[in-house]
Amino acid sequence: MFAKTIDYLISQGVDSPEIALVLGSGLGDMVDEFEDSIKIPYENIPNFPVSTVKGHEGAFVYGKLSGRKVVALQGRFHYYEGYDIQTVTYPIRVFHELGIKQLVVTNACGGVNESFNIGDLMVISDHINLAGVNPLIGPNLDQHGPRFVDMSHAYSSRTHGILNQIAAEEGYQLQSGVYTWFAGPTYETPAEIRYARTIGGDAVGMSTVPEVIVAKHCGMEVTGISCITNLAAGMQASLDHKEVIEVTKHQKPRFNHLVKELVARM
Ligand code: 6GU
Repeated sequence: MFAKTIDYLISQGVDSPEIALVLGSGLGDMVDEFEDSIKIPYENIPNFPVSTVKGHEGAFVYGKLSGRKVVALQGRFHYYEGYDIQTVTYPIRVFHELGIKQLVVTNACGGVNESFNIGDLMVISDHINLAGVNPLIGPNLDQHGPRFVDMSHAYSSRTHGILNQIAAEEGYQLQSGVYTWFAGPTYETPAEIRYARTIGGDAVGMSTVPEVIVAKHCGMEVTGISCITNLAAGMQASLDHKEVIEVTKHQKPRFNHLVKELVARM
């Protein structure tokens, strides 16, 4: 399964990457910052799923960022697209098979914490899985990791500190908070948002958590960065995917700089 994927990626020039980035909605052109980049469309990669949502690009990109060898998923696979959850997280296992030990996941999400503002960047401190599914259900892949995975320190406090430092140098503050995963594709109801807030959620989104679970299974250091593109249901008049894309576009320079500096220092 993995061997065909890995052999193909290596044949295309992917050479011992150290860090993987998963780029969320509207954040995919971070790869324009890569040097000597190689862009491989998902549809060319053996055993790779293919992206279905408009505005979610679909390519595996290899290159150098801040002098480090990195790979990026330009566009991720969402559970709501109808993939089974092992397919959603297949690229993370491919990262592990490539020898990658550090993962940076990014997303666009809705703000639940009442002190958050549209356009804020939030470092993920922890998550809550409300999707009712877990990518590790099924026979354990013993060669990747253990049956029972410790999620006590899912998100690296080391890289969280680096991110806060970078933001301080640039004269702004990052938010920090708990990302709550709903399967989607509906946005939540106002009642669901009150529930998410009550149980400790600061933001809501439709991705990231399954990828992080698999990365922790594989023993990776995980960093999560969310762009708060809108306030969640009941906190603003209505929700629209167009706003999500517009706000991420607007925050791109700050986001790109943050990720680039993080890669330099991690
Ligand atoms: Cl409000 N909810 C979810 N699940 N995902 C989002 C969002 C809200 N805003 C952007 N992405």
